Amino acid sequence: MQPDYDDCWLRYREVRDEALRASYRRLCSHAYVSEQSRELGAVREELRRGLGGLLGRDPHLWQHPPRTTDGFLAVGTPADMDVVAQCVDEERVADLAEGGYVITTGEWEGTDVLVVSASSDSGLVYGTFHLLRLLSNHEPIEDVHVVEEPASPDRLINHWDNPFRGSVERGYAGQSVFDFETLPDLRERYRDYARLLASVGINGIVLNNVNTQIPGRDSANEAMDVLEGWRLLETRYLEKLTGLASLLRRYGTTTYLSVNFGAPEKIGGLDTSDPNDPEVAQWWAEKADEIYDLIPDFGGFLVKADSEGQPGPYNYDADHVDGANVLAEALEPHGGRVWWRAFVYGSHKDRAVQQYDTFEPLDGEFRDNVTIQVKNGPIDFQPREPVSPVFGQMPETELGLELQITGEYTGQHVHACYHVPMWKEVLEFDTDPEGHGTKVKDLFTDEGTGMAGVGGPGEDRSWTGHYLAQANLYGYGRLAWDPDLETEAITDEWVRQTFGHDPDVVETVTDIMHDTWPAVIDYSTGGIGLMHMMYNGEAYLENHYDPGPEEWPGYTGATEDGIGKDRNSEGNGYAQQYPDALADLYDDPESCPKELLLFFHHLPWDYELSDGRTVVQTLYDNCHAGVEEARRLREEWRTLEGEIDEERYRHVAERFDEQVEHAGIWRDRLTDFFYDYSGIADEKGRVPRED
Ligand code: GCU
Repeated sequence: MQPDYDDCWLRYREVRDEALRASYRRLCSHAYVSEQSRELGAVREELRRGLGGLLGRDPHLWQHPPRTTDGFLAVGTPADMDVVAQCVDEERVADLAEGGYVITTGEWEGTDVLVVSASSDSGLVYGTFHLLRLLSNHEPIEDVHVVEEPASPDRLINHWDNPFRGSVERGYAGQSVFDFETLPDLRERYRDYARLLASVGINGIVLNNVNTQIPGRDSANEAMDVLEGWRLLETRYLEKLTGLASLLRRYGTTTYLSVNFGAPEKIGGLDTSDPNDPEVAQWWAEKADEIYDLIPDFGGFLVKADSEGQPGPYNYDADHVDGANVLAEALEPHGGRVWWRAFVYGSHKDRAVQQYDTFEPLDGEFRDNVTIQVKNGPIDFQPREPVSPVFGQMPETELGLELQITGEYTGQHVHACYHVPMWKEVLEFDTDPEGHGTKVKDLFTDEGTGMAGVGGPGEDRSWTGHYLAQANLYGYGRLAWDPDLETEAITDEWVRQTFGHDPDVVETVTDIMHDTWPAVIDYSTGGIGLMHMMYNGEAYLENHYDPGPEEWPGYTGATEDGIGKDRNSEGNGYAQQYPDALADLYDDPESCPKELLLFFHHLPWDYELSDGRTVVQTLYDNCHAGVEEARRLREEWRTLEGEIDEERYRHVAERFDEQVEHAGIWRDRLTDFFYDYSGIADEKGRVPRED
């Protein structure tokens, strides 16, 4: 039965071009796939599904090389399959980084063979998905030669599932896919999630939310835990996870858990979780032994400590090194890793300055199997932020780049906002313009480094709550695998696999995707470096969707005289945390990139920018331009009616209606706010507003 949810980019629609289909059929109708390992069941299953769709008929899967055909596909390691050994450079395959693969054509006893080869099961899984992507994108395969290996060893998704609540923090896609109570029973949807992840090269999943506890009250006002993700470390839940971990393993995906730093007390019954207490160290070591007995390839722990109500080493007069290292020591004998988040704030007036201040002095002190996971910017996944000064400045520490796949601050999947261009901006950023090979993307090539994408698909038909937001999950995986990929290439692949090959459709969807992010920046920030003007609300999860600029004087720095924050040498010195060349660039409002200007400088409302417009007029203009752009994107989308499937068309069209409306609310609130402080009317007569 067809599942009642979308297949995203794995649609595998039949190739209509006859010559191309004939070529695909010749080389792919017969597939000889290694049966050496259980993991390769995933390969056979995907080929059956993918080739069945693309070729318009079921492929024949062989257990030995077929002889009566004029071409076939062979998938396996050179060690397992003579056919493969004959067609590939064995040494080259052996030298590939974990997960790497080769796709090539060759010959076997006079027959043409298309080969997918790797030295590991996961490489064969990724290679198979790559082959199916080539076919889905209508690429020729008669003379193909692909050699791929991932740029970073760790490409994680941080799925912020709230176990036992059926929700995903910042998920925006309905309830949880995972049901921890009914495990070890497996749902078909787990497999499809694993397929989506593997198809873009994601190789690890942290199942639960970094917030593993939130105290609260129930309706009778009794104290209770709103979140109880910490419980997953209890033996009864660990036992339940084994089946899910094996399923994920078949797709090359390793299982990780977010853990609570207070677990020795909460679960172990100890009277402290002090990382320097030998009993605590012992507890973690035994817990790790227990986990690895159940899940031998377990990836490790993700920890949010001393941040937003989560316990951490500070509770015990210890520091982040003590905290991370005690966990790392426990995991070390098993090859596990601690991902320790740098998202810690509270002790400084401006959170931007805290991470570098806290972590940079600790460089070199973390154990080898600790990765410090740093958000791309110093604040919190804003539509645009400067790149965190931690990058490039902790050379003796393994670093992980944390990006947000989900659109918490970019319209929460009601608004269309394509994050790939934003991430490219981060990855291409040179952390030390006077250095070499110091771009952010070059920092993640060693063992223990890589990327972590925050965002949990949910039960929604679309998986992501907005069909266009699927591109963010897709693009995250592709960039984690290869940060050199250009945005345009990623978009093109995704659009074709998702919407087909009609040139007008491809062009229209592509244009829309590329223009979404700048529009969101304009109407929700004014485009020159303001951020975090979201309404907070009272609920445990702050709203972060509606405007609320007046709530955040600490972020906007708005006064009657001007707006922006002096994060420069005259102010709190944040700019000076960067290497000199960048510090100088940011320190002077004349050289500071315009899009970050008010992040670094408090400037008079009538301060003139290089194009002759004042700060306040620029803010007015950008807020209006953003809404106009959203409206234009909606019109563009409407031209697709009847050209793409009705479900996707209608869903996105309705979302655009809401986006345009909500963007207008943002524009009005922000421009009113700017006017209230500045008292300067918009030259174009739009502010003050009449209503
Ligand atoms: C943001 C987000 C929270 C999350 C936090 C984090 O502040 O709003 O939901 O817990 O980031 O990254 O830990």
